[in-house]
Amino acid sequence: MSNTVLVVGATGQLGSIVVKKLVGRGAAVRALARPSSDRNHLNMPGVELVLGDLMDPSSLHDACVGIDMVISTATAHIPRSPTDDFRVIDDIGYSNLIGACKAKGVSRIVFCSGIRTPHDDWIPLIKLKRKVESRIVTSGLEYTIVRTSAFMDTAFVLMGSLIPIAGSDVPTVKRPFRFARRHIDSIQDSIEQRHIAYLPGDGTSKHSFICARDVADFMINAGQSAEGRNTILDVGGPEVLSWFDVVAIYENLLGTRLRTKTTPAFVFRALFRILSLVSAPASNLMALNYLFAATDAIVPEACAVASRFGVKLTTASEFLEEKFQLLASG
Ligand SMILES: NC(=O)c1ccc[n+]([C@@H]2O[C@H](COP(=O)([O-])OP(=O)(O)OC[C@H]3O[C@@H](n4cnc5c(N)ncnc54)[C@H](OP(=O)(O)O)[C@@H]3O)[C@@H](O)[C@H]2O)c1
Repeated sequence: MSNTVLVVGATGQLGSIVVKKLVGRGAAVRALARPSSDRNHLNMPGVELVLGDLMDPSSLHDACVGIDMVISTATAHIPRSPTDDFRVIDDIGYSNLIGACKAKGVSRIVFCSGIRTPHDDWIPLIKLKRKVESRIVTSGLEYTIVRTSAFMDTAFVLMGSLIPIAGSDVPTVKRPFRFARRHIDSIQDSIEQRHIAYLPGDGTSKHSFICARDVADFMINAGQSAEGRNTILDVGGPEVLSWFDVVAIYENLLGTRLRTKTTPAFVFRALFRILSLVSAPASNLMALNYLFAATDAIVPEACAVASRFGVKLTTASEFLEEKFQLLASG
């Protein structure tokens, strides 16, 4: 068996970082991309690009030949095209992937999931994550499931800032899903330019925000370690921060006071219901916003888990400072 790692979701925000980190560590990487995906950033030495799709089992069987470990970050909840349906891709697509891993003798599958919340029973994407987790656990494959809290790279953009995506090849917030793009375009750099931050709920819910590159380290380190075998890890950043705490970090970074605009949690819940009549992905995004607005999503042992797996966690200030410098240097 070779030590080549197959990355599924390699054209996404997290998957592209996983690919780069694996290459940086000298691993041989096979990156799965759909034929329609933007994949220029994957043209680098050490990466074998294969075309495939979670909905095309034979492409997955081909991609898994000679693979020891599969790392999957893929999700279609922010669709690339109107025909992408996360209710199918994040469900059947993963059954297809598990089937291919078993058929081709893959040793371990590493899956990116989300942390537990009190709303797991009705939020569409989270329900699917739990379904895939249990399929993986009962599949007979070795597994590492990384349940992560909210990414700084995405959550802080939703506050009205483009700083978090500086230097990012394929940020999730720039995916071509018109509903989400229209909103992002309307608020984009309002923190930087207009000094206004948009906060979900009343701004006091607390989250263990983590940056995507630290999640990538967890997936690789835990996926490759004996200690990470057949485990489900809850991972988060080193701090528990409210949205107002993040505003204070921005104020410090930019040297200016910010005004805030809040959206009550019930608005997201109502939009979830209304949009479910016309757009499943838009409705799901409102459910995820409700989580941001209404729920503390805290990983209690985040620093201890990070040190067990050799991950150096990045604080929100470090993350934003670094991205800010990247923007400033052009
Ligand atoms: N952002 C957060 O705060 C957060 C929190 C908790 C968990 N997570 C999880 O983190 C993971 C990574 O997120 P991300 O930000 O990297 O997502 P992303 O940027 O939206 O990337 C999604 C990836 O999945 C791929 N994909 C979609 N449908 C596919 C299909 N049918 N076959 C093969 N690949 C397909 C996409 O390919 P195309 O380019 O072809 O569309 C893309 O590469 C996800 O599982 C997400 O649920 C995120």
